[in-house]
Amino acid sequence: MSYNISNFSKEKLSELTGFMNTNHDLDNFTAELLKEKIFDDLDFNADLTICSTRNGKLTGFGMAVLRQDGLGFIKIIAVGKDSREMGIGRAIYQLLEERLKVMGCHSIRAYNSNPNYLLPGVDPRYTPALCFFNSLGFKRYGETLSMSVDLTKKSFQTSVDEKKLLKSGVSISRAKLTDGERLISFMHSAFPLWIHEVKKMLSNDIITLFIASKDREIISFAGYDGNNFGAGWFGPMGTHTAHRGMGIGSLLFRICLKDMKKSYRKAVIPWVEPVCFYSRVSGAEVERLFWLYQKEI
Ligand SMILES: CC(C)(COP(=O)(O)OP(=O)(O)OC[C@H]1O[C@@H](n2cnc3c(N)ncnc32)[C@H](O)[C@@H]1OP(=O)(O)O)[C@@H](O)C(=O)NCCC(=O)NCCS
Repeated sequence: MSYNISNFSKEKLSELTGFMNTNHDLDNFTAELLKEKIFDDLDFNADLTICSTRNGKLTGFGMAVLRQDGLGFIKIIAVGKDSREMGIGRAIYQLLEERLKVMGCHSIRAYNSNPNYLLPGVDPRYTPALCFFNSLGFKRYGETLSMSVDLTKKSFQTSVDEKKLLKSGVSISRAKLTDGERLISFMHSAFPLWIHEVKKMLSNDIITLFIASKDREIISFAGYDGNNFGAGWFGPMGTHTAHRGMGIGSLLFRICLKDMKKSYRKAVIPWVEPVCFYSRVSGAEVERLFWLYQKEI
């Protein structure tokens, strides 16, 4: 079957939204979400954002990004259900790999393109995708998971704990634009990987970021809507090592959930490590598993 591969253009965003909902169907897409994933990625490159078409209609889409230190990512890939197993996915991938290589890429990962990512890895329920990445030479190197909290079932009382912490000199507040400078300097020194998401939270119309301060120093942060805006994503969050074990993180987490209840029925906690922390504090449950793949090129 013939198909044409070309760079993807913004005019096709609305067609792509329908295409993704049909063909990447464990996930929900809006044009806003795809715009954030594609065009708002700081490493967006038109030559790494391509699609296949037949008679002008989308049959496939693939996007890659090249991050720091020559690490590349297949950020999104999908082929139309009626066009699969005809070599289109392979052709899209090969063109992206070729272009990444020319740009200095040495390894490619699948999906977990931190800091702007759609999914933290490959959901194994996309079973053909596992076979696809294997056949392209990717090796599985780990796994991760996402949890979720049913926000309709809890009210998240926080005032008693806020008062207790205040007595020990720790105050909690929604971040303000004027906190920006000291926040970014705290992130640089304590959690540099998450600066981009914190900046995104600060730029939201209503800031979706909460901070704990002691002696005017920021010591902990937590927020939501820093990635996949509109999908109810919580995180990241982090407490400076010197202030852990005081209940600051669990309080900030519950404050975020309370705030999220205004807009969402469910909170998703993506790419989780401290499973027991989230489970104990909020009753969060493991919702999705992801396998991590990498290929050296
Ligand atoms: C994964 C996907 C992009 C593959 O696209 P495709 O055009 O069907 O793939 P190709 O025809 O180019 O196949 C390339 C190789 O992948 C493997 N493969 C693809 N589909 C497969 C299937 N259903 N079963 C087994 N192997 C499969 C094969 O090894 C194939 O090579 P071969 O035909 O020479 O043996 C497509 O199934 C898809 O869009 N899935 C839904 C979206 C998705 O899962 N994205 C990733 C989410 S994490």
